[in-house]
Amino acid sequence: MDKQQPIGIFDSGLGGISVLKEMRALMPQEHFLYFGDSAFAPYGVKDKEVITQRCIEICDHFIAQDVKAIVVACNTATSACVNVLRARYDLPIIGMEPALKVACELGERQHIIVMATPLTLKEEKFAKLMQRFQDAHTIYRQPCPRLVEIVEHDELGNEEVVTAQLQEYLQAYDLSKINSIVLGCTHFVFYRSYFKKLLPAHIHVIDGNHGTALHLEDLLQQQGKRCKEGKGSVHIENSKQDPQLILLCKKLLGGHDDE
Ligand code: DGL
Repeated sequence: MDKQQPIGIFDSGLGGISVLKEMRALMPQEHFLYFGDSAFAPYGVKDKEVITQRCIEICDHFIAQDVKAIVVACNTATSACVNVLRARYDLPIIGMEPALKVACELGERQHIIVMATPLTLKEEKFAKLMQRFQDAHTIYRQPCPRLVEIVEHDELGNEEVVTAQLQEYLQAYDLSKINSIVLGCTHFVFYRSYFKKLLPAHIHVIDGNHGTALHLEDLLQQQGKRCKEGKGSVHIENSKQDPQLILLCKKLLGGHDDE
């Protein structure tokens, strides 16, 4: 196994770029292949079986490029099929789930809103996660499919649209009683600056990206596959075959253009 082999990372579209950004910062010598399935986004309102089929095709594509690990940078795809993928491929597959545990560990009887896609929130994986914490804490599930579309349609810069949408999703809650919001979808991490403006200062906004990057690093380390020398790289592909989307990915990633 060659340490120089790339790491495959994918999402339904652009959301996984927020995870890639964290991984690049932590492991700048690694080579990443990013695949965004924007032609098929959003995943969060589709059937599990359909998503599973897409994910298998994407992983086959990575295997053909000899990756050393695969990151499912998508909570929705992880809920739908990470077990199927793990059973099918003989290499490390890292998934994601809403960082509810982190929010619950902030204190006793926490009041937490989990924002995620409809599919993530209705799948068994999340139900099991909720079961672990729901007696000791108050947990609200808030599906936010529009937040995926706004990113995919390059509308993140439209303050009016974004603010109105976030307010709509949060209007039912008494925010003075909320301790944390968990961003259970990788697309939502791009809204951090909006949350900062809109939410009372005491609310923690939590995502699982850094934890996932640390988990990948740890796993590569344990398996002797961590690349610590040379200049890493990022290669971005998207099922939509639209050059504008690749540019948008690079913008979201923060100026990495080394293909
Ligand atoms: N970014 C994805 C997630 O983390 C899914 C968004 C979607 O396609 O609905 O859940």
